[in-house]
Amino acid sequence: MIVNIVLVVCSLLVIVEGGKCPCSTPDLCNPITNTTRREVFIFSLNNDRNSWEKYDFTKVTTVVMVGYESPELMCHAHKFGVRAIAISNYPVEKLTNAAARTVWVNKTLAMVKENFLDGVNIDFEDPISKNEVNLERGYTSLVAEANQRFKQELPYSQVTVDVAWRQPCIDDRCYDYSGLSAVSDFVFVMAYDERSQILGECIAGANSPLGNAQIGIESYLSLNIPAYKMVLGVPWYGYRYKCLKLVENKCSIEKKPFRGVPCSDAAGSQIDYRAIAILVKKNHIKINFDNSTMTPFFNYQDASNTTYQVWFDGPKSLRLKYELADKYGLRGVGMWNADSLDYSDTISAQLQRKEMWGALPNYRNDFN
Ligand SMILES: *[C@@H]1O[C@H](CO)[C@@H](O)[C@H](O)[C@H]1NC(C)=O
Ligand SMILES: *[C@@H]1O[C@H](CO)[C@@H](O)[C@H](O)[C@H]1NC(C)=O
Ligand SMILES: *[C@@H]1O[C@H](CO)[C@@H](O)[C@H](O)[C@H]1NC(C)=O
Ligand SMILES: *[C@@H]1O[C@H](CO)[C@@H](O)[C@H](O)[C@H]1NC(C)=O
Repeated sequence: MIVNIVLVVCSLLVIVEGGKCPCSTPDLCNPITNTTRREVFIFSLNNDRNSWEKYDFTKVTTVVMVGYESPELMCHAHKFGVRAIAISNYPVEKLTNAAARTVWVNKTLAMVKENFLDGVNIDFEDPISKNEVNLERGYTSLVAEANQRFKQELPYSQVTVDVAWRQPCIDDRCYDYSGLSAVSDFVFVMAYDERSQILGECIAGANSPLGNAQIGIESYLSLNIPAYKMVLGVPWYGYRYKCLKLVENKCSIEKKPFRGVPCSDAAGSQIDYRAIAILVKKNHIKINFDNSTMTPFFNYQDASNTTYQVWFDGPKSLRLKYELADKYGLRGVGMWNADSLDYSDTISAQLQRKEMWGALPNYRNDFN
C-alpha cells in the first residue's frame, strides 16, 4: 500500500514537473540521446514555420531558438532526431554572486524542462579585462554549475558556450577559455565579426577570412582544448560599408570606435545573404573573389551615387571553412543564422537555399 502511494505520488510529480507534451505523439518529447555525434549547430531567429520547416533537418543536429520558444519547432526537430535548445545570457555584474548564479541555473533548467528542450547555449559576450580574474572565474563557475545541474537532471542534455573567433582577448573578452571548454559540452567559435577592432588601415574587409578561422582554431588548440570540443561557427551574412574613397578596391571607411580601438565594422552594417542576392541581381553586379581571405566582395553605387563595398560569405567561401573544420577534426560547424536566406517559394529562393544548405557537411548519413 505504501509502495503504491509512493508510486502514484512519483508519477504525479513527473507529470507536473514536465508539463504536457505538446507534440502529436508523446515520444516526440523525449530527449535526443546521442551526445557524441558531430554537429551542424544552427541559430534560428524567425519564429515562422514557413522558414524553419525548410531547414535541411537531415543535416542539422542542433537548432538554437533565438528570441522565441516554439513547441512546434521542438516537436519537428525531434521528429528528425535534432536537438532543440534555448539560448541564454547572464548579467556581468552578478558573475561573482554565487547565489544569483544558482538562481539563474535553476530558472534556466526549469525553462528547458518545461518546454522539453535538449539544453542551452550560453551567449555571454561582455568585456572582461585580463586582470578581472574574479569575473573570469565567476563565468566559468556559472557554466560549470549549469552543466552539472543539467546533466544531473537531464543526462542527455547539451550545454554549450559561444566564444570569440580566437583567444585570448578579442573585443576585451578575456575569458577562461580553457576552463569554459572543460566544463561544457563544446564551445561554438564565432568565426565572424572579425573586423570589430580594425588595427591596420581603416578600410572595409572580409567578415570571416579563411586564414583567421585557422588562426582561431589553432589558438584554442594551443590551450589544449580538444578538437571535438569545438564547433566552427560561420556567417550567413556580410557587411556593407560606405566608402569615403575607393581606390583599386580599397574602400576607406568612417572611423567608428569599438572597445578601445578607433576603427571597426560598426562603420558598416550587417546584410543577410538574402539581401545581398537581391542587391547583386538588381544592380547587375559582378562579384570579385579576394584570394588573400578567400572571400567574395563587390563594389556598387546607389541611386545617389554613394559608393559601397560589400563583403560576404557564399557557398564557395563557406565550403572552404567547413572543409577546414573537417581537416582539424572539429566537432562540427554551424552558422549565424539560418534565417539569412530567402525562404519564399520562388525558383531563385529555392536555388539559393539549395546552394547554401547544400554546402554544409553531411555528418548524418547514418541518421543518428
Ligand atoms: C552517435 O552518433 C554517431 C554518428 O554520428 C555514431 O557513430 C555513434 O555510434 C552514436 N552513438 C550512440 C550512443 O548512439
Ligand atoms: C535550486 O534547485 C535546487 C534543486 O532543485 C534546490 O535544492 C535549491 O534550493 C535551488 N536554489 C535556489 C537558489 O533556487
Ligand atoms: C585568385 O585565384 C584564382 C584561382 O587560383 C585565380 O584564377 C585568380 O586569378 C586569382 N585572382 C587574383 C586577383 O589573384
Ligand atoms: C550619378 O552619376 C551619374 C554619372 O556620373 C550622373 O549622370 C548622375 O546625375 C549622378 N546622380 C546623382 C544623383 O548625383
